[in-house]
Amino acid sequence: MIRVEGLTVSFETVTAVEGVDLEVGRGEFLTIVGPSGCGKTTLLHAVGGLQEPTEGRIRIDGEPPGRARDAGRVGLVFQEHTLLPWKTALGNVTFLRRIAGKPPDEPGARRLLDAVGLSGFLEAYPRELSGGMAQRVAIARALHLDADLLLMDEPFGALDEITRDELGVELRDLLRERETTVLFVTHSVPEAVFLGDRCVVLRGTPGRIEGVFDLDLPEPREPSLFTDRTFQEWVGEVRAALYVEASPRR
Ligand SMILES: Nc1ncnc2c1ncn2[C@@H]1O[C@H](COP(=O)(O)OP(=O)(O)OP(=O)(O)O)[C@@H](O)[C@H]1O
Ligand SMILES: [Mg+2]
Repeated sequence: MIRVEGLTVSFETVTAVEGVDLEVGRGEFLTIVGPSGCGKTTLLHAVGGLQEPTEGRIRIDGEPPGRARDAGRVGLVFQEHTLLPWKTALGNVTFLRRIAGKPPDEPGARRLLDAVGLSGFLEAYPRELSGGMAQRVAIARALHLDADLLLMDEPFGALDEITRDELGVELRDLLRERETTVLFVTHSVPEAVFLGDRCVVLRGTPGRIEGVFDLDLPEPREPSLFTDRTFQEWVGEVRAALYVEASPRR
């Protein structure tokens, strides 16, 4: 369980997020959507213990984020893939798990690379991969860590729409099976609705929570959902929260 209470993060010249309260249950898939610069990455960094709150506090199962991260219980996928250039795709996937002190599981790493469509590139180096392929390696690496909490910052940003949709379905199934808690940032409203158990709309400068949507949609989520009317109604509601006329804030 993640508890974010009154989180404000200020940098020298700008307050990135302000007064964010959020609770995320174990195994929940929470999507976060909002315009560029509204503080999504900052929020994720704070939950991952990479950014100290200016005000407020965050607890992961009652612990400060830094401690949960050091214990290898938090996996991260950044907007940029951050692969180690001197390691192969397979090497990148297995490496992080080793660092976290978890038992090696190379067959598991191979299965994950296969699941993201890269079984033919196990021995390829990052420089030999396209941007989207490198990003898929980073996703496999985060999954291989088998963390309780996965923080994903636009993990599908470098992917085409078809790969994105397919990978989304697969990722969601896999993570639900493992009961991983997920915070997933995206710019795409349909993606946020398709993947999320709940969706948070963040907006403004500083970023605040504009709305939280309980996405009551049929499980398992399947691609046919994209044309479902209830799905489209949710997309409309989330969009409306994103696009409401900015209300003046004190
Ligand atoms: N390390 C930092 N130092 C100073 N300002 C920062 C830092 N990180 C973020 N900011 C500022 O905080 C605000 C929110 O940035 P953040 O990266 O969280 O936005 P975002 O919602 O993730 O945007 P995007 O969708 O473009 O990734 C921006 O105004 C940004 O300039
Ligand atoms: Mg960002």
